[in-house]
Amino acid sequence: MSGTAPTKRLYIKTYGCQMNVYDSERMADVLSPLGYVATDSPEGADLVVLNTCHIREKATEKVYSELGKLREMKDARAAEDGAVMNIVVAGCVAQAEGEEIMRRQPAVDLVVGPQAYHQLPELIARTHRARGERLAADFAAEEKFDALPVERRPTGVTAFLTVQEGCDKFCTFCVVPYTRGGEWSRSPQTIEAEARGLAAQGVREVTLLGQNVNAYAGEGGLAALVRRLAEIPGLDRIRYTTSHPRDMDDSLIAAHAEVEALMPYLHLPVQSGSDKVLKAMNRAHTADSYLRLVEKIRAARPDIAMSGDFIVGFPGERDADFEATLQLVREVGYAAAFTFKYSRRPGTPAAAMPGQVAEAVKDERLARLNALLEDQQRAFNASQVGRTLPVLFERRGRHPGQLIGRSPYLQSVHVSAPDRLIGQIVPVRIEDAARMSLAGVLAETAELEPV
Ligand code: 5AD
Ligand code: SF4
Repeated sequence: MSGTAPTKRLYIKTYGCQMNVYDSERMADVLSPLGYVATDSPEGADLVVLNTCHIREKATEKVYSELGKLREMKDARAAEDGAVMNIVVAGCVAQAEGEEIMRRQPAVDLVVGPQAYHQLPELIARTHRARGERLAADFAAEEKFDALPVERRPTGVTAFLTVQEGCDKFCTFCVVPYTRGGEWSRSPQTIEAEARGLAAQGVREVTLLGQNVNAYAGEGGLAALVRRLAEIPGLDRIRYTTSHPRDMDDSLIAAHAEVEALMPYLHLPVQSGSDKVLKAMNRAHTADSYLRLVEKIRAARPDIAMSGDFIVGFPGERDADFEATLQLVREVGYAAAFTFKYSRRPGTPAAAMPGQVAEAVKDERLARLNALLEDQQRAFNASQVGRTLPVLFERRGRHPGQLIGRSPYLQSVHVSAPDRLIGQIVPVRIEDAARMSLAGVLAETAELEPV
């Protein structure tokens, strides 16, 4: 794959007030990660945005006459070199006329009102990707895959295996859709070959990696991939991360009930428990739909350990919104979690949202959220005491004669055990629990309970 990112030319024509001038600058900013560079003429532009104004009479007619000229340019470019010139109508005329504009002038590709500018990169990226074109942001991912050798030298008994890259979700706080490009999946054949290679070298557990791993688009989706890899001799444990709630389909949930090798641990970020914040984040789920999803997953695999990502202090987050996050955490009960203070990433829609939250407020919310999640983690670990769990021993511990392994729920387990057990899955009776780890003793195989 060639390495240079394609530059695209962006021409924005601004009508009217200062507000529009500001919005036009912002539109140029949010489009720059996709490879768009501003030019000062529509000639040869790949994307033309008319940022319109409704304040004067006949403004709408002026826009239609401008669009007529642009249509001629668009047709001429298509006839000359097959290039596509996208036309977007933004601003107040877009707001007022809506899709009527596209009916009157079919050369227009998109109409976005001022409330929807944060969706512009997503909409533009979709238009390109629908045509099979790649954007500047898409290159990094593919180069990385090209560079990945199928023959790998794993250093232990667990390994990561990248199956998917990129993201089309465009959460408004996140740079990944720009920096990593669109969702892209490796073929099941390549992945299987790599997994067989890993198993042949002693890997017993693989974690399938992807920014949106459950959007894996190989045939049959992630569920089919998991079932396929579960057939590989020696590969006894499969995990995957990170998942988006909206791609958690029934076939994957069924795999959690049916595939023994699929470990009972799921990292399913929710980010917030407030529907208002979730909407501003463009998450496409509500607190309630997330809770129902977790219920469904637990119906399939009752002992599953849930983990999540949370952001506190997203723009516009009020006390009541934060309380809703705490409430959701109480309802789910997490075994592990990653928490973040919202941080402004230039070029992302949330960076320009009103209601940025003061640092001190973020600190205070983070501390409260962490305290709750740490309690839950301790409680989850403590609930394992007295059970006998299969532990995959990975390496020596800090103390002589001690090994460290992993439980099915991804907990570290410290056990006195001989080195020859490294790489083996062995029953361990859990005797003690702390927040970050468990301790136990080797048990008789007969004691092993089903997990
Ligand atoms: N600010 C804070 N947290 C962020 N994350 C992603 N972008 C931001 C940001 N701008 C967090 C999300 C995501 C995790 C990988 O990082 O919670 O799930
Ligand atoms: Fe995609 Fe995850 Fe970033 Fe959302 S947070 S845009 S799902 S990578």
